[in-house]
Amino acid sequence: MNDTNPMLHLEDVYMRYPSRDGTPITILNDIDLKVRQGEFITVVGPSGCGKSTLLRLILGAESPTEGAVLLDGKKLDAPNRNRGIVFQKYSLFPHLSVMDNIVFGLDAEAHGMFLGWLKPGQMRQRRRAFRDQAQVYLERIGLADAADKYPHELSGGMRQRVAIAQSLIMKPRILLMDEPFGALDHATRTEMQLFILEQWEQAEMTIFFVTHDLEEACFLGSRVLVLSQYYQTDAGRGQGAKIVGDFATPGGHPKPTDFLYSEEMSQLVHRIRSEGLSPDNLQHIRDFNLTHRDAFRTVNPEEWQREQ
Ligand SMILES: Nc1ncnc2c1ncn2[C@@H]1O[C@H](COP(=O)(O)OP(=O)(O)OP(=O)(O)O)[C@@H](O)[C@H]1O
Ligand SMILES: [Mg+2]
Repeated sequence: MNDTNPMLHLEDVYMRYPSRDGTPITILNDIDLKVRQGEFITVVGPSGCGKSTLLRLILGAESPTEGAVLLDGKKLDAPNRNRGIVFQKYSLFPHLSVMDNIVFGLDAEAHGMFLGWLKPGQMRQRRRAFRDQAQVYLERIGLADAADKYPHELSGGMRQRVAIAQSLIMKPRILLMDEPFGALDHATRTEMQLFILEQWEQAEMTIFFVTHDLEEACFLGSRVLVLSQYYQTDAGRGQGAKIVGDFATPGGHPKPTDFLYSEEMSQLVHRIRSEGLSPDNLQHIRDFNLTHRDAFRTVNPEEWQREQ
């Protein structure tokens, strides 16, 4: 990466929301993050620490209270087709067929762009082209025969595959996934993990994947971000969440499935759990595991040692 020019750059990002009495509460505290194209970033952290908020900022659905979110050096203003999002549920329109769900984004975009310009025949032709494209995605997700079905007729895993196809057809540069497999049973989840790795390799996207499952995070991610409100500074307990862990996962990427059962995996999971997720273990900011080559260090351990 050209260090002055990462694809995505969160710079000194603070997010505050007003509490009931109107006083602002810091949710994200000075987040700095540089991301290269093609990374598979998994995000873990205690419930309520701000993972979904972080995704909304990258989507451009919200702006930070302070600081900036830059894509190719330019501030994000609103969501656009460069960034797709998949949620645990509710990513699909229940009243639309699988086919209509998948072409929805393309249709809406064309409608907005060409309304009043294209003759009805040309519009129909365009729609047919979208459907042909969608069929290719249906085949890719193993649901070639499900075009006319409705979401309620599909299993949870099938629905999530359609939701992923709905995003992929827009060819986003960044795919944001907020606990996408959280509601699936174990076997379907394992199958979907392999599926998303395959899609990631084929589409050469950058993925942000939020999960509560630490094994899933370490297995899927080439880089794991641990976001947590449980830490301390010299001044005492921290306010709002910081990136307390930022590291490259061992075992290459994508990893062989037996990595899931390795000693390395269980040590990593144990370490994240105790360092990032435990309210009783307030790690000091100088001890954060920020070993990823692009991780931003507020405190350099050597300098800190020298100052003592
Ligand atoms: N629009 C908002 N107004 C006020 N507070 C908000 C708003 N959105 C989020 N919050 C608060 O910000 C904090 C972080 O929420 P967020 O949903 O990002 O957490 P999360 O890490 O995704 O949690 P979970 O793991 O439960 O999904 C929570 O305390 C939440 O109540
Ligand atoms: Mg969330």
